[in-house]
Amino acid sequence: MSYTARTFDLPALKGLSPEQIAVHLALYEGYVKHTNLILDTIEKFRTADAEGNAFVINELRRRLGFEFDGMRMHEYYFEQFEGGPLVATDGGALQKAAVEKYGSQDGLIAHVKEVAGTRGIGWVVVYYDKSGSTMQTAFVNDHEVGQLAGLTILLAVDLWEHAYMIDYKPAEKKTYVEAFLDNVNWTVVERRLAHAA
Ligand SMILES: [Fe+2]
Repeated sequence: MSYTARTFDLPALKGLSPEQIAVHLALYEGYVKHTNLILDTIEKFRTADAEGNAFVINELRRRLGFEFDGMRMHEYYFEQFEGGPLVATDGGALQKAAVEKYGSQDGLIAHVKEVAGTRGIGWVVVYYDKSGSTMQTAFVNDHEVGQLAGLTILLAVDLWEHAYMIDYKPAEKKTYVEAFLDNVNWTVVERRLAHAA
């Protein structure tokens, strides 16, 4: 099998230009292409001479998480803009989970902004941990280092400079994060939480 790049029904975004989004979508498609390529290449090396190519295969396997999570994280990212900015259901499951962990939904947003201040490229990821019945928020390096195993991704904030370099300077990451949050359709996040629970 091979993965196919998804298309997203994106509205006009506030603070994120069509050019910025086009550049970013092209990068996403690169991750899909390279996920397929790395899987195919591993298979070719295995078929040719698995023992003789062991070092190469090992290194390709180490690299798979970067390409695969690069693909999948961007799908979470762009999907969050579909449908336009909508607020979470008042008193709904997402608000309740946010209140329990962060005091309020504003508390959750403030926490996301705080974690987004982490130096370096990566993602802020808000998860739902079904076994602990709680939200967790993590900073993920690159696309894959620091992901919390088995938890459902609720919100994914891309903090790579490529996510905002057309519209903002590197030092304006905070402004980009504000713009990102202004465009989130929180009903998409609610849907993910409903699947998790
Ligand atoms: Fe990105």
